Amino acid sequence: MASAARGVVLWAAPVDRPELRDLLDERERHRYGGYREPADRARLVTGRALLRMTAGHLLSRPAAAVRVELDCRHCGREHGKPYVPGLAASFSVSHSADRVALLVCVAGEVGLDVQELRRVRHESLADRVLSGPEALRFATVPPRARRAAFGRYWCRKEALLKASGHGLALPMSSVTVSAHDAPARLLDWTRRPDNRPVALADLVGAGPGYAAAAAVIGADRVRVTEHQLSGALDPDGSRLILATLRELHAGAEDDRVCT
Ligand SMILES: CC(C)(COP(=O)(O)OP(=O)(O)OC[C@H]1O[C@@H](n2cnc3c(N)ncnc32)[C@H](O)[C@@H]1OP(=O)(O)O)[C@@H](O)C(=O)NCCC(=O)NCCS
Repeated sequence: MASAARGVVLWAAPVDRPELRDLLDERERHRYGGYREPADRARLVTGRALLRMTAGHLLSRPAAAVRVELDCRHCGREHGKPYVPGLAASFSVSHSADRVALLVCVAGEVGLDVQELRRVRHESLADRVLSGPEALRFATVPPRARRAAFGRYWCRKEALLKASGHGLALPMSSVTVSAHDAPARLLDWTRRPDNRPVALADLVGAGPGYAAAAAVIGADRVRVTEHQLSGALDPDGSRLILATLRELHAGAEDDRVCT
């Protein structure tokens, strides 16, 4: 039977404020201290704040009391996809340049990827990243459209590999998605771990100059609502986050709604 998942994406600008930094656990503080670039610190702080504040709402617990675990389900080491013990919802965080995003879904396993297009090295990476059918299609894309097209392929594929928790430990070329100018769909996955359905969606909330996509393993379709949270990050509980989470359980009329 076909199944549809409902996802919410929260977009924020990276910020490194003391009250958000205070939400980091010891391991994250260690990572924070290892970053030399203030921008890297801000992206870490913001991604984890979004995750804890959202999970805190779902658990009716203060954000500071939300534990984030990283045990890799493939090898057991602590480098895996972040998850919150005791919560059925699945999360994925991604950040690039001035965008940080969290995808939350109550069904399936989710992955999110955002890439600033300026940084996309499409000419040098295409051979390694694109599968055979994707490369054939990509070769027909006019030069001025190639960066955006490649960004779209990249994000769809990385979102899926983040949903499975493999990340870039699996070759990106093992995944084939639909053409960049067609609705997002998985066409083939060479080392597919299981037979669960996969849903993909291109995202628009990052704005111009970015590509972004969401993936859900365990659903045939995903309906994603995107929200901008810039300036609204408040560890005591952003009402905006709470309001958006209600949509997770509500019916959706549009496949994608941006506010
Ligand atoms: C996960 C990965 C694809 C992210 O790449 P990226 O494009 O640099 O970064 P993004 O901004 O899109 O995503 C980073 C976020 O992904 C999440 N993440 C980390 N590892 C992940 C994994 N295995 N699966 C899904 N999400 C992961 C984290 O939330 C991270 O942000 P944070 O640490 O600030 O919270 C990349 O780091 C990777 O492939 N790591 C290796 C995973 C690995 O070795 N797996 C081994 C399996 S045995």
